[in-house]
Amino acid sequence: MVVKRVPGLNGRLALAIAAAAFGSAFQHGYNTGVLNAPQTLICKFINETAYERYGSYMDETQLTMIWSWIVSIYCAGGIFGAMMTGIVADRLGRKLGLLCNNITILIGVILIGFAKPCGYYEMLIVGRFFVGINSGLNAGLTPMYLAEISPSHLRGAIGTVYQLVVTISILISQILGLESLLGTESMWPWLLSCTIIPAIFQVCTLPICPESPKFTLLNKGKEIEAQRALTWFRGTIEVHEELDEMRAEYEQMKAVPKPSLKEMFTLDALRMPLIISCMMMVAQQLSGINAVIFFSTKIFQSAGLDDNTSQLATLGMGAMNVVMTLVSLVIVEKAGRKTLLLFGFTGMFVDVFLLFLCILFKDSASWISYFSIILVVMFVVMFASGPGSIPWFLVSELFNSGARPMATSIAVAVNWTSNFIVGWSFLPLQVLLGPYVFIIFTVLLGLFVLFIWFKVPETKNKTAEEIAAMFRQRSYTQG
Ligand SMILES: *[C@@H]1O[C@H](CO)[C@@H](O)[C@H](O)[C@H]1NC(C)=O
Repeated sequence: MVVKRVPGLNGRLALAIAAAAFGSAFQHGYNTGVLNAPQTLICKFINETAYERYGSYMDETQLTMIWSWIVSIYCAGGIFGAMMTGIVADRLGRKLGLLCNNITILIGVILIGFAKPCGYYEMLIVGRFFVGINSGLNAGLTPMYLAEISPSHLRGAIGTVYQLVVTISILISQILGLESLLGTESMWPWLLSCTIIPAIFQVCTLPICPESPKFTLLNKGKEIEAQRALTWFRGTIEVHEELDEMRAEYEQMKAVPKPSLKEMFTLDALRMPLIISCMMMVAQQLSGINAVIFFSTKIFQSAGLDDNTSQLATLGMGAMNVVMTLVSLVIVEKAGRKTLLLFGFTGMFVDVFLLFLCILFKDSASWISYFSIILVVMFVVMFASGPGSIPWFLVSELFNSGARPMATSIAVAVNWTSNFIVGWSFLPLQVLLGPYVFIIFTVLLGLFVLFIWFKVPETKNKTAEEIAAMFRQRSYTQG
């Protein structure tokens, strides 16, 4: 170990993290969770709107169809936003990109908030699309900005803040959705509109923080400004070492032109990191986390908890997700990314297989249903220990600044697409296969564990240059 004085967390860096993460990850988590509680209320509104408009009520199929649109168009917006990340991050920059992105939230909230007063449920669908675009862009821009402003020994911890805020905001959306708070017939438009608050927070705080020094130097070539930004973030003028590293990266980047979309898939040194980034995104979504959470209420009920207690237990699981993400934030710089990914996915693999057995044999002994509760909780714990947070920032770590925006764009779009696929296919599959649907997740998780074991490099504490060098070695480039 080289002992040197490394600048760590300070007030300004913390402000930048809060401005970027709270102002954007919140949208992602909140809008993922917010529709669960008021589903019946919103469906009632749609049903009544149809009656006022056409003089007849909707049948179950039509209503389910419209509801599915409202839920899943968010993912479609997410895919679209993710695909735009590369262009936005290159043209506007990370900071300005994030700031401008708040326009989509404003449009979304106006449409969603006024849907009920205006009597148009269609506005909910269009509004959710805009909110989705916002979340898609955020999921790319924020981890990129966070990774670029962090000192390398804190990059993982600061990158984890994104997922931490996502889990917190899912929990907040569930709590606010309770009937005693905003989950009522008159209040649900307000519940959905709360997502404007973090946008206002971001518009007030992020302008104070400088643009990512890497973007300023490597994309804009402005050295003085980059140095000034770095000094601001580190709280010290002794930033020469880090600046030299960035300069070296800059020189190298000038020699090698920015890769084209085609080169991302064909150049050996880029293809492998891209495959890894995308696989981790797929793994995060196809791990079955949403399926287990979906099943949790049923599992709690079959263990004899009543409706109210089951609902509380679900909230408890959300809280567990927050706590464990916080734990992973603390240990990710010590344990390393690869170790936590392996630990998390292996744990989920074993867990979901046991859960499958429990559901299969749930009637043969009474202790089994209690054991399933433990398994569900453990599954969330395993997910939060690494698989939930690491994929978001790993992509920024695996690429140097030239390829980073495009790689992020592709990886985050893959994440939203997987999210979309799981959302659409899980229920039909579950109807078709029953508990055997968990076998699919067991097999997938097994494959992800093998992939991580053989292919994912450890990026802890490494500079962009060292990571790029790893991929130039044969062991990683030969797929
Ligand atoms: C729509 O509302 C009417 C009247 O309240 C009700 O009878 C009908 O079941 C509702 N439709 C659906 C699909 O819930």
